[in-house]
Order: sequence, then structure tokens, then C-alpha cells
Amino acid sequence: MQIFIDTADTEALAALIPTGMVDGVTTNPSLIAKSGRKIADAITEICAMVDGPVSAEAVATDYEGMLAEGRFLRELAPNVVVKLPLTENGLRACRTLSEEGTPVNVTLCFSATQALLAAKSGAAFISPFIGRLDDNGADGMELIREIRTIYDNYGYDTQILAASARTALHVKDAALVGADCATIPPTVFKAMYRHVLTDVGLQAFLDDWAKTGQSIL
Ligand code: E4P
Repeated sequence: MQIFIDTADTEALAALIPTGMVDGVTTNPSLIAKSGRKIADAITEICAMVDGPVSAEAVATDYEGMLAEGRFLRELAPNVVVKLPLTENGLRACRTLSEEGTPVNVTLCFSATQALLAAKSGAAFISPFIGRLDDNGADGMELIREIRTIYDNYGYDTQILAASARTALHVKDAALVGADCATIPPTVFKAMYRHVLTDVGLQAFLDDWAKTGQSIL
């Protein structure tokens, strides 16, 4: 499973890169606003930090505007993926940009039929928002399961990018139902490896080792 970091905070991202487990990055207009950066500067810097796909979101809502913004964002770096919302214009623009060779991440997906249309429009990634569905009393993971089945039934190669993942449990469940990637905030990345029993066990081993008076080197 590919792990993407959902952030426009380059400091937070820089701290995770040395793990070697960051496969890509996703941003959205809210994350860019939170960073206080100009989108072109933030995306260019992030793209230089990671080899994998970096999603940069257009904010135009009309077809021509989406194309213009998508083409601008695509030129920022070779690993930019243009992110477009799952609207009629977004799907149209997804088809056009995909045919031009630009990978598109279709975002704000909340239903299986939306995901089916994104695949038909040539999307490289579909982003179902599991956390926001859960927040609204729906079952976000069930949506990932449905999309997996539909894409497998018809051989669509659009990658399922589990988005709005709020916990390590979300990531585990998304992996179990076959999501190709998950995008998570830095806090969730850390929560994936931290375990109280690991800490307690390590301390016990170190305490016992100290009693031996040995050193390995
Ligand atoms: C995905 O690409 C979005 O940026 C993100 O996952 C949204 O997460 P949120 O619902 O926690 O804001």
C-alpha cells in the first residue's frame, strides 16, 4: 500500500521523508491556506522533496478554468498530479487533462457511482473521503469496499486513494479492503508505528541488557 502524507506543511513533511515510507503527498485548498504559502511555491518545494505523486488542487469550478489551472499546476514539476472535484465540470476536465497525459486525482468522492464515473473519465486516482462519511453517520470503509469491487469487475486501473483518514485504524481497514493508497496527516503516520507495548518491551530489554555489563560493539 502506498502511503501519502496529507499536508502542505513542508517542515512536518521533511521530518517524515527520512523514514523512506512517504510515497507521495496530497494537498487541498484548506491545507494550502493553513500553510500560509503561495500554492506554486509550496507545491514546487514539496515536489522537490518527494519522488512520488504530489496532488495540487484546482479551485476553478468551470471547465475552462479547471483546464487552465490544471495545466499551470502540472507545469510546476513532473510529479504533480492535478486534483479536481467530483463535479460534472471536474469529470469533463479530468478526461481532457488525462488525454493530455496529466494524471488527475478526482477528489471529494462520497459515493460508488461517483467513483465509477471518475474511472470512466480516466482518473489516475479517486479520493473517497472516509472520515467525512463517518462524521456524517455513513460507513466510509464500505465505500472503499464497493469501489474496489466495481473497479475489479471492470478492470479500471484508477487507484483508490483512501482520503480523509483520521486514524491508524482507518489505514488498516483501508488496506484490508484493498485501497491502493491512503493519505494521512503526519500524526496518523506516527500513530501507525507507535505502540505502548513496543515501548514497554523495549525498556525491559534495555534494563536487562544493562545488567549484563556487555556492549555489542
Ligand atoms: C484528501 O486528499 C484530502 O486532502 C484530505 O484527506 C481531507 O481530509 P479531512 O477530511 O481530514 O480534511
